[in-house]
Amino acid sequence: MSAADPRNLPPGSRPRRPASPGEFAPLRIGPLVVDPPVVLAPMAGVTNYPFRALCREFGAGLYVSEMITARGYLLGNKMTRMLAAGHPDERPRSVQVYGSDPVDVGEMVKQLVADGVDHVDMNFGCPVPKVTRNGGGSAIPVKPRLLSRLVRAAVKNAGDVPVTIKVRKGIDDRLITFPDAGRVAESEGASAIGLHGRTAAELYSGHADWSSITELKQAVSIPVLGNGDIWEAWDALAMMRETGCDGVIVGRGCLGRPWLFRELAQVFRGEEPDPPPGMGEIVAIMDRHADLLIEAFGEDHGMRQMRKWCHWYTKGFPGSARLRGDLARVETKARMLELLGEIDPATPFPPNAVRANRAKRGGTQRVKLPEGYLDDLDDDTPPKSPRSPEEIAAWEKALSGG
Ligand SMILES: Cc1cc2nc3c(=O)[nH]c(=O)nc-3n(C[C@H](O)[C@H](O)[C@H](O)COP(=O)(O)O)c2cc1C
Repeated sequence: MSAADPRNLPPGSRPRRPASPGEFAPLRIGPLVVDPPVVLAPMAGVTNYPFRALCREFGAGLYVSEMITARGYLLGNKMTRMLAAGHPDERPRSVQVYGSDPVDVGEMVKQLVADGVDHVDMNFGCPVPKVTRNGGGSAIPVKPRLLSRLVRAAVKNAGDVPVTIKVRKGIDDRLITFPDAGRVAESEGASAIGLHGRTAAELYSGHADWSSITELKQAVSIPVLGNGDIWEAWDALAMMRETGCDGVIVGRGCLGRPWLFRELAQVFRGEEPDPPPGMGEIVAIMDRHADLLIEAFGEDHGMRQMRKWCHWYTKGFPGSARLRGDLARVETKARMLELLGEIDPATPFPPNAVRANRAKRGGTQRVKLPEGYLDDLDDDTPPKSPRSPEEIAAWEKALSGG
């Protein structure tokens, strides 16, 4: 990608033109109207209820859960059930399902819908070797008939609840699967398709290829959600303008920056976004985030989760590097606040931290597929799923998303 590519722009230099009146329609996912057309990306270990609640307090949009494995859910695993359950005040309630067996997926969707879920997303983008090696995640769209069976099982059991799918471009540049995935999503009754413009081989490296989003948008009649490299609100408008997609999915850009959803709402309304908060305001946000995590998981587990957020929230602030070690071991909220007190609350948000990648940096991989996987692409046999509680627990640990 050339240096002239708009995605290589330095922080803040993306054309800053808020939406004009009527420029972007609300996103429609079945009966759901998402306005502005912004979706929080499902992120394992990140988009649990506390973070979704925080993002929602800043903005508007659709906030999807982290992926919930069908096997863990059906086995009644306590943590899996708790992550799927969200919170009674959460509307619309949106859950991402991970599963590779149509029977499991159908049953899980049936139970989720009975439990009041308003939207089901399906993960077909996971690039983790342990998953693709067994024919799961991003390996599934390689076999469109298997993908069809899975989407059909979910749609059939979802009734009026909309089902969407989320995919990557493909396995690698020689095995591009998103056009087939688009056809399947459309023909099996999915209400939208999200596309992360990278292959599984690319993991999170380089730049997302937005031209694949344009191509998908031109090929299908269901809404297309563009995903990849929305770091600033301006990027969302640029992606919509460049690709014609119907909505955007925002992942790493909001890690430690939940106010990105306020900025997104503002630019879609045609306003200039507020300046980012300074340290004092960020400490207040972290205080609230820690409270939500503690309420959901208890102080011990909640604060253990908060450690990575401490790193993400303070990234780039002068003086934060020195605190990093202590924040990475922090056990109580009081100690966290004491440590944060060492940074001057008047410190403004560092411009270089706006487009900084806070998770999953660099690196590519050679994607592992099961032996002989490409011999029969019409095969719709589901891959083997883990069955015993121990296998399922190991599996869930290995999964880290799409
Ligand atoms: C920490 C982390 C966890 C993720 N977990 C999931 C997941 O559970 N399900 C999924 O479909 N994608 C997952 N992803 C991928 C994101 O949803 C998104 O597709 C990707 O980060 C690209 O968007 P971005 O450039 O805005 O970050 C994960 C990404 C990150 C950084």
